[in-house]
Amino acid sequence: MLQQSLQNMYQGRTLVFGHRGAMAYAPMNTIPAFELAFEQGAHGIELDVHRSKDGYPVIVHDFTVDATSDGSGTVTEMTLAQLKELDAGSWFDEKFRGTRIATLDEVFEAVGQKLFVNVEIKSMTAETDGVEQVVADCIVRHMMQTRVIVSSFNPYTLKHFRKIAPDVPIGYLLEPELQKTQILMTKIDHEARHPYHNMIDEKYMAWAQDEGYFVNTWTVNDPERAKALHALGVHGIITNNPDTILEALQNA
Ligand code: G3P
Ligand code: CA
Repeated sequence: MLQQSLQNMYQGRTLVFGHRGAMAYAPMNTIPAFELAFEQGAHGIELDVHRSKDGYPVIVHDFTVDATSDGSGTVTEMTLAQLKELDAGSWFDEKFRGTRIATLDEVFEAVGQKLFVNVEIKSMTAETDGVEQVVADCIVRHMMQTRVIVSSFNPYTLKHFRKIAPDVPIGYLLEPELQKTQILMTKIDHEARHPYHNMIDEKYMAWAQDEGYFVNTWTVNDPERAKALHALGVHGIITNNPDTILEALQNA
């Protein structure tokens, strides 16, 4: 059933996802960056989620707000009201001043019906702080079960999430340095693999096909590399610049 839901999503196409939105051109992980990805023609977006201190799914890349706002502090130790006070746009460009940190609800409301959403859960522990539950509840609230893929580098997080939301497809994020430990840590059910792009070659794709995994790869900003990955048969490309990648794939 989950494989079928992904097949309906992809329909044989190579999907292009804006990484943290169209982050080459707008402040990462904000509504303007997600809207811009849509305007550029992306099929979907990728974003990063944490649980705020008071239980809201909030969209920030790092574990602190320091690099992408005018404030400082650990995301999971701040309430939504505290996070909403921050300016999450002017660090990138003055013209984005006034941009706020978004909740996952706000993202689904803004773009959920026009873009697929790859929700990456950020977590570094085997124990859960409840982030999986607030993400799952939000997906149900917005009836996004067939329009999202939930991913994480943390296999424990994915295991927790699968238990809570067995009807939502999972993508297992892998990077070369982490791969061995990640796989040894725990076994998880997943429908998609999300490897760093330099892990992919013909052999990898043949293996993924045998295992029945969809392959979404990151972060591919070079049009020539995108064409090569498309030729290898990847299912999804996560990029900072959806415009140039879509253009490159147009005639590929
Ligand atoms: O989901 C792909 C990619 O976003 C994973 O790495 O650090 O950009 O969240 P990072
Ligand atoms: Ca991410």
